[in-house]
Amino acid sequence: MAVTLFKKNLISLFSALYIAVFVLLLTLGLNYYFFNIAIRSFLIPMGIVFSFTLIFSYFLLSIKIERNIIEKVSAIYNNLFPTTISTRSLDDFDLLTSNLKKITTDKNTEIELLRQQENYRKEFIGNIAHELKTPLFTIQGYVLTLLDGGVDDQKVRTKYLKQAAKGVDRLMYVVKDLDLITKFESGIETLERSAFDLRRTLENVFELLEMEGIKNKITLRMDKKYEEPIFIFADEERIQQVLTNLIINSLKYGIEQGVTEIGFEKIDETKLLVRINDNGNGIAEEHLPRLFERFYRVDKTRNRNQGGSGLGLAIVKHIIEAHHERVFVESKVGIGSEFSFSLPLASKKELQKER
Ligand SMILES: Nc1ncnc2c1ncn2[C@@H]1O[C@H](COP(=O)(O)OP(=O)(O)O)[C@@H](O)[C@H]1O
Ligand SMILES: [Mg+2]
Repeated sequence: MAVTLFKKNLISLFSALYIAVFVLLLTLGLNYYFFNIAIRSFLIPMGIVFSFTLIFSYFLLSIKIERNIIEKVSAIYNNLFPTTISTRSLDDFDLLTSNLKKITTDKNTEIELLRQQENYRKEFIGNIAHELKTPLFTIQGYVLTLLDGGVDDQKVRTKYLKQAAKGVDRLMYVVKDLDLITKFESGIETLERSAFDLRRTLENVFELLEMEGIKNKITLRMDKKYEEPIFIFADEERIQQVLTNLIINSLKYGIEQGVTEIGFEKIDETKLLVRINDNGNGIAEEHLPRLFERFYRVDKTRNRNQGGSGLGLAIVKHIIEAHHERVFVESKVGIGSEFSFSLPLASKKELQKER
C-alpha cells in the first residue's frame, strides 16, 4: 500500500515538476522578449512562482488522478465484476492489473469448459441417435416385409414378428440405460443402502443369466465355495445391476467353452473386493483408459451387433462411484479380462439395524 501511494504520488510529483519548469521557462522567455529585466533582480519572485506552481499542480494532479481516473476505473471494474475484488485494491495499479489478468484467465477457462461441454453434448446426442437407429431400422425392415405380403405366410409372419419384438426389446434397454445414465450424470439418482448378503445377490444374477451362459457356451461359477454370508452395505438393486453388466460382458466377449469366475476378497475390516474374471477375447491396452466412457466400444461394428448399448461399463462406474468406491480393469488380448470393484462391508451397527 505504501509503495502504491508512493508510486501514485511520484507520478503527480513529476508531472507537477514538468509544469513548474514549463511555467518558469515561459516567464523567462516573456521577460526576455518584453521586459528584459536582469534575471538576478527577480530570482526570488521566480522561486516563489516555481514553488507555488509545483505545489499547486502536485495537489491538483493527485486529487484529479484519484477522482477521475481511479474512480472511473473502479466504477467500470465494479460493474464488470461486482463481487470479485474489493475496491480498496484499486489504489494499487499492480494489483489491479494482476487481478484483471486472473479474471481474464478464469473467464477463458470457463469458456473453454463450456465449449467442451457443448461438444460433449453434441457427441452424446449423436451417439444416442446412432444407438436408436440400428434397432429402429431392424424393426422397420421386418414390419415393411410383413406389410408387403409376408403377413400371409404363417411361418414368415411369426418369425418376423419375433425379430421385430427383439428389436423393440433392444430399443427398450437402450432407452432404459440412457435414462439411468442421465439420472446419474445430473446427480438425481440416489442410493438406497442397506446391509445384505452379496452371495444371495450373486445367486440371483447367476439364475437370471444361466440361459445366456448356456447359449454362449460359457461356464459361470464362483472361484471357491463361500460358506459364510458376506454382508455389504450398499444399494442392492444397483449392485445387482453392476454384477449383471459385468457378467453379461464376460459372456458376450468370451470364447466358446470359456469360463467366467467370480470371487470375493476381504481387503480389510471395512472393504470387500469383487472380482469378475474371464478367459475371453481380452482388451488391448490402448483401449483400457477409455473403456468406462459411455458408448466406448473396442470393436465398434462387431460389438454393436452383439446388442449392447455401449453404456454398460459407464453405468457400472457411475454406480460404484456413487458408493464412493472404485472399479478396476486388467486385461490381455487372447488371455482374458478381470474387472473388479470395491464395496463397503456392513458394520455391526448397520447389520443390527437390518434385524
Ligand atoms: N469382459 C470383456 N472382455 C472383452 N471386452 C470387453 C469386456 N467387457 C467389456 N468389453 C469391451 O468394452 C466395451 C464397452 O462395454 P460396455 O460398456 O458394457 O458396452 P457394450 O457391452 O454395450 O458394448 C465393449 O464394447 C467391449 O468391446
Ligand atoms: Mg456391456
